[in-house]
Amino acid sequence: MLTRNLIFTVLCFLLLATGNLQAGGDSARGLELSESCVDCHGDDGKGDEDTVGIAGLDAAKHFDLLKGYKSGEIVDEDEMMFDYVEELSEQDMADLAAYYATLDGG
Ligand code: HEC
Repeated sequence: MLTRNLIFTVLCFLLLATGNLQAGGDSARGLELSESCVDCHGDDGKGDEDTVGIAGLDAAKHFDLLKGYKSGEIVDEDEMMFDYVEELSEQDMADLAAYYATLDGG
């Protein structure tokens, strides 16, 4: 019985921890990481005629998009994104998503 309770507690903790990871991106760290994104998406994240804007994207949506590129679930037709998300950890992606959510999408 005790073991079961312990496993349950650990599972709950893990669920909470992953929830926090997504919700709790650190936008200051995201700003630093965004140095590798600005070449294409622009300093303000608004993109240009060649690249889609990412400023003001909802953080949860942005996080899912980045994860999608990394896992190959989203097929990146120009193969531009995969190279840049390949090395990112989930924390990196959460931080980037948090940062871009603070920008004005215009
Ligand atoms: C070499 C250019 C380039 C770099 C660098 C780059 N991107 Fe992209 N990104 C693109 C292009 C082009 C697209 C459009 C979709 C595609 O080709 O797959 C895109 C699409 C996206 C999308 C999907 C937007 C949507 O609404 O569907 C997100 C989110 C994104 N990029 C975030 C980032 C982040 C965060 C970084 C930095 C880690 C980054 N990108 C670096 C070129 C780039």
